[in-house]
Amino acid sequence: MDKVDEVAEIAVLGGVGFNSYRDCESHPVKTPYGGVTAYITSIRGRNVAIIPRHAEEIHIPPHRVNYRANIWAVHSLGVKRVISTNSVGSMRGHTVGSFVVLDDFIDFTCSRPSTFYDDKTVHVDVVEPYCPEIKEALKSGLVKQGFPYTEGIYACTEGPRFETRAEIRMMSQFADVVGMTGVPEVVLAKELGLCYASLAIVTNQACGMTTQKLTADEVTEVVGKAQDSIYEILSHAIGEIPESQNCMCRFAKEGACL
Ligand code: HPA
Repeated sequence: MDKVDEVAEIAVLGGVGFNSYRDCESHPVKTPYGGVTAYITSIRGRNVAIIPRHAEEIHIPPHRVNYRANIWAVHSLGVKRVISTNSVGSMRGHTVGSFVVLDDFIDFTCSRPSTFYDDKTVHVDVVEPYCPEIKEALKSGLVKQGFPYTEGIYACTEGPRFETRAEIRMMSQFADVVGMTGVPEVVLAKELGLCYASLAIVTNQACGMTTQKLTADEVTEVVGKAQDSIYEILSHAIGEIPESQNCMCRFAKEGACL
């Protein structure tokens, strides 16, 4: 990592349908992995960089999202804390539109560049993948806005297809919700010592959990309707994140290099 500008201290990586950046100033960022457009704004007195994960003009599918460029970009803007929004299917019968603060993950992805370190061996520590400080801030935002929430384990699939019934039956033994975009994003954040947490919104029951066919439109529609709530939860959380990092996230790479 060469140069770090102090443009923003917090980033929001917005998932499908997240559009709360439309009026913000756009800020192109060059990274070794390609260009990224960040949107800079101020929320509760904190400078925030918003990056729509799937970009804008064309919707980049989950397995082709440039996760490395997005995380590199936020780091180069001076960001230390990242909040992600992810849409998920529930394997526990959560109400559609309810929220889950991610607590851990299981990775079923298979084709994505998943590290910044291709030329040396770095075994980054992900034993606590989601930052406890940002999780607390998110929970506080949820309570403040009157939204019930649960914590849960996230299974990340490769996509872009939805899952089979057998896959969901298998994953539901170990995880609560399923999505396609949480990994390797969280791991890449760890590799750069960033704090990272995710606010997941349940957009549907996972495939095969009901007799209804799951459609992509359904996912977008639920997130679209929850836009204002998501923004309010995030705004409150942003205001609650302590100025200085008191967690261990920034040490994830210590002792990790062979
Ligand atoms: N599966 C995978 N990804 C998703 C789902 C799902 O059911 N819902 C929203 N993103």
